Amino acid sequence: MGSVFVTRRIPEEGPAALRAAGHEVTVSEKDGVLTREELLTALKEKQYAAVLCNLDDKIDAEVMEAAGEQCKIFANFAVGFDNFDTEAAKKRGVAMTNTPGVLTDTVAEHAFALLLAIAHRVAEADRFTRAGKYEGWGPMLLLGTDVSRKTIGIVGLGRIGSRVAHHAALGFDMRVLYYDVKRNEEFEREIRAEFRENPDDIFKEADFISVHVPLLDSTRHLVNAERLALMKPTSYLVNTSRGPVIDEAALVEALKKGSIAGAALDVFEHEPALAPGLADFENVILTPHIASATRETRAAMAKVAAENIIAVLSGGAPKNPVIQ
Ligand code: GLV
Repeated sequence: MGSVFVTRRIPEEGPAALRAAGHEVTVSEKDGVLTREELLTALKEKQYAAVLCNLDDKIDAEVMEAAGEQCKIFANFAVGFDNFDTEAAKKRGVAMTNTPGVLTDTVAEHAFALLLAIAHRVAEADRFTRAGKYEGWGPMLLLGTDVSRKTIGIVGLGRIGSRVAHHAALGFDMRVLYYDVKRNEEFEREIRAEFRENPDDIFKEADFISVHVPLLDSTRHLVNAERLALMKPTSYLVNTSRGPVIDEAALVEALKKGSIAGAALDVFEHEPALAPGLADFENVILTPHIASATRETRAAMAKVAAENIIAVLSGGAPKNPVIQ
C-alpha cells in the first residue's frame, strides 16, 4: 500500500476512500495553496506514491523530479488541468488524472445562475436594497433584460457547454449558437443548436455569451479586444471556464466604453487578483471560482480523485487519464 500526499484539505470522502483502500494519507496542514517551495519541500521530505493536488498546484518536471521515481500519479481535484505539464509527465511515465463528469451539472447551474443574475441585476439590486436605497416599488426601478427567447452563444460545446445549451434551449426557449473545434450534428438536432465555424459570428449575434473552453495555447485570450468589439452593446459575457481565456484588461476597456452590457465571471486572468477597475462596475458580477462548489459535487470530486489514485496504486489504469 502506498502513501498519498493531499496538497490541501478537501472533502473527507477523498482521504476516507484512500484510507479504506489501505493507503496512508497525509493532508497538508496549511490552510491555503502551498507555495512552490512548500510543495517541493513537502514532496522531497517524504517519498509519496501519489499526490492528490489542486488546480493552483503547478505540476511540472521540477515538481515530478522532487516527488521522485516512486510517485506514480498526480490526481487533480478539478476537471481543468492546465496546471499540469502533461508532456513532462508522459516522458516520465507518470499518470495524471482529472475529475470530469461529476461537476458538469453544478458548473452549468452556476453559469446559469450568473447569466440570470446579470440579466436581472440581482447582485446590484441586492447591494441597492442593503444600502437602504429602496424607497418603494418603481416602474422604472432597476430594469433588467429578459433571458427567455434570446440568443445564447456557447463557446466550447463540451460536457458543461452542452448542459448550459440544454438549459437555455429547453428551459428558456433560447436560440442556441455554438462554436467548438468539433461540430456535433446530433446535438444540433437534439436542441436545435446552430454551429458557427467562426467564433466571431457568435460574438456578433448572441445576446449572452457563455464560455466553456479549456485553457490551451489556442484558447488563451480567445475573448480579446477585437471579439469584445464585435459584441452588441446589449450583450452579456459569462465565464465559468478559465480566467485567461478572456483578456481581462480588454474586458475592463469594453465595460468602460459601454460596448457590452455587462459580464458575470467566476474565474479571473490572474487569480485571485482582479484586473484594475473590474470590481468598480455595477454591471459586473464576480464570484470567487466557486462554480463547482456544492457540498455534493466537491465530495464527488474528492472521491473521483481518490479512485484514480487507488486504481494506479493497485497497478491498474485510472478512469480519468488526461494523458492519451
Ligand atoms: C474547476 O475550475 C475545475 O476545473 O474543476
